[in-house]
Amino acid sequence: MPSRPADPEPVREGAAGAPEAEGEVTAIEVRGVSHAYRGRPALGPVDLAVATGEFVSVVGPSGCGKSTLLRLIAGFAAPSTGSVAESGRPVRGPGPSRGVVFQQPRLFPWLSVAANVGFGLRRQPAAVRRARVAELLDLTGLSEAGRLRPYELSGGMQQRAAIARALAPRPRVLLMDEPFAALDAFTRERMQDEIRDLWRRTGTTVLFITHSVDEAVYLGTRIVALSGAPGQVIFDERSDLPGRAHPRADPGFGRLRERLSEVVRAAASGPGEAPGTPAEPLAERPGDLVGDAGLGRTGAALEREALGGQPPR
Ligand SMILES: Nc1ncnc2c1ncn2[C@@H]1O[C@H](COP(=O)(O)OP(=O)(O)OP(=O)(O)O)[C@@H](O)[C@H]1O
Ligand SMILES: [Mg+2]
Repeated sequence: MPSRPADPEPVREGAAGAPEAEGEVTAIEVRGVSHAYRGRPALGPVDLAVATGEFVSVVGPSGCGKSTLLRLIAGFAAPSTGSVAESGRPVRGPGPSRGVVFQQPRLFPWLSVAANVGFGLRRQPAAVRRARVAELLDLTGLSEAGRLRPYELSGGMQQRAAIARALAPRPRVLLMDEPFAALDAFTRERMQDEIRDLWRRTGTTVLFITHSVDEAVYLGTRIVALSGAPGQVIFDERSDLPGRAHPRADPGFGRLRERLSEVVRAAASGPGEAPGTPAEPLAERPGDLVGDAGLGRTGAALEREALGGQPPR
């Protein structure tokens, strides 16, 4: 286990339906996973076991398969080979135990911020939903914004609302795909501190994809780098920097950032993407339907569903 911040003591939220005590089961188990779109390799093979409570930063050259990896863990698609399990159970589609945050907030524009945050709880009793939404708005500093529409929020506030929405069903795992990439530098740094704080307080396992080596080192208790496409793990190290009071002031920060930059630079100048015909969008690929749980729906449909945090039916 990486060293965790001593103070404040993480408050375990106890993910809904979590059958096991913390630490007993690997949160995410990616075993021998590779993925190809229309026969064109995009990822892998990758083996990655993420322990409960880890904050794993994933970096790698553009197009190496980072988002693909995240989508396979989220259950938006089934891997071409290998298996993905979450908390010991095979992933067969999206579900409320895995929250997803994308680069764009993707809030529903016709709903208030509060309704967006509570979207994944819409089948729960109104009182339960209201209480949870209020808790999440408070946790993400949006208590005053619940009645507003997404367009009335700044970019940073919208992304906080998206994070609150993903956290609402108490996911065991939070999957974040470059969540701060569209923000200005100042807001981005603030959001980094906020997600670090949220992670400390909730103890949620986080898989965080970023292009920023600095961000990866600042946030990750474990840092994974992928090679050029099809991405394979070429760097995997634990770090206790996020547990320090001022990680960037630590001499180890610069050293790790330098080494990681080196690895990513070398990977980016490697063989690169396999040549081939442009890949077809996942949504139009019957071959990419998610196994049993897909029930004939496409990756895009599953992705939409997951935004509401609802399990496939
Ligand atoms: N839905 C899809 N349908 C077909 N091909 C896809 C799809 N998504 C990604 N690909 C292809 O798979 C490869 C890996 O893409 P992916 O989006 O996973 O990379 P990435 O590492 O997230 O890139 P970036 O850093 O630019 O976001 C690319 O060659 C891409 O064109
Ligand atoms: Mg991507």
